[in-house]
Amino acid sequence: MVTGGSSGIGESFLGLISTVESFLVVCNLSRREPVDSFDGRLRHHPCDLSDAAALASAAGAVRRDIESAPPGKLLLVLNSGFGAYGRFPDIDGARQARLIDVNVRSVVDLTARLMDPLRERGGAVLLVASTAAWQPTPWLATYGASKAFVLQWGLALREDLREAGVSVTVLCPGPTRTAFFTAAEMGETAPGLGMANAAAVARLGLRGVVRNRAVVVPGVLNKVSAALACRLPRRWQGRVADLILKRFRNPSSNE
Ligand SMILES: NC(=O)c1ccc[n+]([C@@H]2O[C@H](COP(=O)([O-])OP(=O)(O)OC[C@H]3O[C@@H](n4cnc5c(N)ncnc54)[C@H](OP(=O)(O)O)[C@@H]3O)[C@@H](O)[C@H]2O)c1
Repeated sequence: MVTGGSSGIGESFLGLISTVESFLVVCNLSRREPVDSFDGRLRHHPCDLSDAAALASAAGAVRRDIESAPPGKLLLVLNSGFGAYGRFPDIDGARQARLIDVNVRSVVDLTARLMDPLRERGGAVLLVASTAAWQPTPWLATYGASKAFVLQWGLALREDLREAGVSVTVLCPGPTRTAFFTAAEMGETAPGLGMANAAAVARLGLRGVVRNRAVVVPGVLNKVSAALACRLPRRWQGRVADLILKRFRNPSSNE
């Protein structure tokens, strides 16, 4: 099961997973339907993950799909998420609450609702966090904190599920060429920052699952920046991130 397979990294997850075995049952949860139905094998359950009732209903549909699927392990890819760029007071409060609902609450709720079949069948959980998880992120304050939650929660879940035969991997991509930046209302790109390819990021995430890695940070630059960021004194982490992240300001903005 993948969330957010309608676009970007999630679309690449679906593409890669669907090539593994022709008999796999593949489910997607997102508001829009993915363009590729993989010869009719994809089961799309439309769902706004910020809506708790819609999530409960979609999770029920996924559980029925799992019950009717042939024996085998279960892979949950919790990928849906979005950012909201700007100084905190300038971002609509309801949008920030929705961000927490999608990026945080839905991850915990969906995993809990699929825990029984996960433990019965065994398998893996792949959580999509971000390099934003490794330090405070001014201009993306709520987004970075939501991804820090996913990273820490995922690492704890990995231990909680160790004896249940379920592995947990947290994927922390750096800037990746997808619709993320438009959705977050950021400027086009940040000068000097290379953009990774979504398919390459998804492939590294799935390779991390196969190798039972706790954390996957794609790309050497991202690995170095994540390692450096958490070694800086706390009071500097936010200052340095501020200097980097303000460069994403839309050039048409007067700030
Ligand atoms: N691109 C980057 O630079 C980058 C870097 C680090 C981490 N990430 C993370 O990677 C993940 C995928 O993002 P992306 O880069 O592939 O961006 P994207 O192309 O904008 O895709 C975001 C996906 O999330 C889904 N989504 C958003 N709001 C949703 C909602 N309310 N309910 C259900 N699904 C929702 C979207 O589906 P619908 O619109 O159809 O609902 C879409 O499929 C996110 O968690 C993001 O935070 C991205």
